[in-house]
Amino acid sequence: MFDVLRKYNKTLMSEPLVDLLAQPGRFERFSASLGGVLLDYSRVHIDDTAFGQLLELASEAGLEEARGQLFGGEAVNLTEHRPALHMLLRGDCIPLEQRPADAQQALDAVDFMLEFADRLHRGRLPSQPEARITDIVHIGIGGSLLGTRLLHEALGQAGSEVPNVHFLGSVDAHGREALLPRLNAANTIMVAASKSFTTGDTLLHARRVRQWMEKTLDAEAVRKRQFAVTGALEKAMDFGVPEQQVLYLPDWVGGRYSLWSPVSLSAAATMGATAFRELLAGAADMDRHFRDAQPADNLPVIMGLNGAWHRNVCGFCSWGVFPYDQRLKLLPSHLQQVIMESNGKSVTVTGEPCPEATSPVVFGESGTEAQHSVFQALHQGTDIVPVNFVGVVRPAHNDSEAHQELLANMLAQATALACGRTSEATLAQMSEAGVSDAGMLLPHRTFTGNRPSEILMLDELTPANLGRLLALYEHKVFVESVLWSINAFDQWGVELGKQLAPGVQRGLAGGDADAPGLAGLLGYIRDRS
Ligand code: F6P
Repeated sequence: MFDVLRKYNKTLMSEPLVDLLAQPGRFERFSASLGGVLLDYSRVHIDDTAFGQLLELASEAGLEEARGQLFGGEAVNLTEHRPALHMLLRGDCIPLEQRPADAQQALDAVDFMLEFADRLHRGRLPSQPEARITDIVHIGIGGSLLGTRLLHEALGQAGSEVPNVHFLGSVDAHGREALLPRLNAANTIMVAASKSFTTGDTLLHARRVRQWMEKTLDAEAVRKRQFAVTGALEKAMDFGVPEQQVLYLPDWVGGRYSLWSPVSLSAAATMGATAFRELLAGAADMDRHFRDAQPADNLPVIMGLNGAWHRNVCGFCSWGVFPYDQRLKLLPSHLQQVIMESNGKSVTVTGEPCPEATSPVVFGESGTEAQHSVFQALHQGTDIVPVNFVGVVRPAHNDSEAHQELLANMLAQATALACGRTSEATLAQMSEAGVSDAGMLLPHRTFTGNRPSEILMLDELTPANLGRLLALYEHKVFVESVLWSINAFDQWGVELGKQLAPGVQRGLAGGDADAPGLAGLLGYIRDRS
C-alpha cells in the first residue's frame, strides 16, 4: 500500500502546495476540530485521492481493530505483557469489565494526590496543616519529570501561598547543589517520582535531599516531608517514605504516559486540583473522540496518517514542533520522549525487521525563538522537515498587539514554508528595492516552498484544551505504531546503556571497566580527575 501512495505522491509533486492552497474550500476540507482545539492540515501536501489512500492504508493495517484492543484493555504492550490504559486515569472510556484488578487503587491514588495537591496549593504540609510549605523539590527523570514539568510551566499559578517547584532530573549534582542552599528544609517537601523506584539519578538525588533535610530537621519532620510516586510501593517504603505518602502508579501506565497520574503531584499543587481535573476531562474528551469518531474525521487518525505520509511516502527523517506560546515551551521535550521512546523501534510486534521507517527525529522549541535559530534550515536546507505549529487564539494577557505579532509570525512561517517565493517574484522584489547584485543573490534569496506543516490552534490555553492536545499527540503516536506494526509502549532501547554504566563507573574509579573501547578515554579522564 505504501507503494501505491509513493506512486501517487510523484503525481502530486507536479502540483505545488501553493496551488493546492489556492483551491477554494481547502481549509474547510483539510481541517478538523474538537472542543477548543483545531487542526489545520491544509499545508500537508496531499489531496482527496492521497487522503483516501491513507485511509485505506489505515484500514489495511487494522487500525480500527487495534484501537478496539487498546480501549478494550488488551495486552497491547506485548513484550511487557500488559495493557496501556493511561486513558483510565482521565475518564470513563474503558468499560468496567475491561479494567485491571488494580484500577480502583490507581484511581484512588489520583484522588489522594489531588487532596495533597489541594493542601500544598494553599501552602500547607498535607499531614500537618499548620506547617507552611513554600517549596517542592520534584525528583524524577524522563516520564517521571517531563510531563509534570510541562504542566507546571503551562498552567501553574503564582500566588502568595502557592509553593515554588524545582525539578531535579539528571544525576548531575550542579543543579541540586545550587538549589538546596536557597531553600529552608522546614518549608520544603520532596517528591520522588519513579515508576520502578530503581532509577539511579532519582534515588541519588532523593538520598541527598533527605540528607540535607536531616541536617536541620528531626526524623519525624523529615518523614512528613517525603513523598513518592511509584509502582514499587515496597521499595519506596523501604527507602523511608511513610506509607500514606507513597502514591500508586500502576504498571499499565507507561512512564511517558504518566502525566495524568500522581506523578503530577507537583504540577497539580501549582495548578490547583480543580484545574487538574479539567485537564483530565479534556484528555478524556479526546479519548472518546479517538475511540468513536470515523477515521476520516478523527484528529489522532488524521495526524497519524499525515505522520506516515511524511515519514514513509515522502521519506522525511525528522519532525519539528514549535509552540507559539511561552507557556508551552516544554512541549517539544515532552513530545520527544512520547514520540521517540514510543516509536523509535526497528522490529515489528512479531520481531521481524520493520519494512518501513519508524519514528522521525523529533526536535523543537518555542516558536519565535526558533525562527532566529533553526528556521533557516527549515526554509532553505536540503532536507525537508515537516513541522507542527501550536498557537493559542486568546492569550491570558492583555497585550493584543504583542499577541497579534506572535500569531502573525507563526502563520507567516507556515505560509513561507508552504508557498516559498519563486525566483521571478524574488527578482522582481529585488529590482523594486534597487538591489545591485540581484543576479548573484537570486539563488540565495529564492524559497522552494512545498514544505509541509500542520497548525494546531487552541482557543485558549485552558487545562481542558491542554488535556485534549496532549492526548491527541499520544493517540497520534499510537496510530503511527499501528501503521508500522510496532509496539508503542515498551522501551527496551534504553536498557543497554543502563546495563553498561556500572562497569564504566568501575573503570572510572580505577578498576576494570567492562566496556569495549573505553580504556584510553577512561585513562585520560582518570589522569585529570
Ligand atoms: O528512559 C527510560 C525510562 O524507563 C522512561 O521510560 C521512564 O520515563 C524513565 O526511564 C524513568 O523511569 P522511572 O520512572 O522508573 O524512574
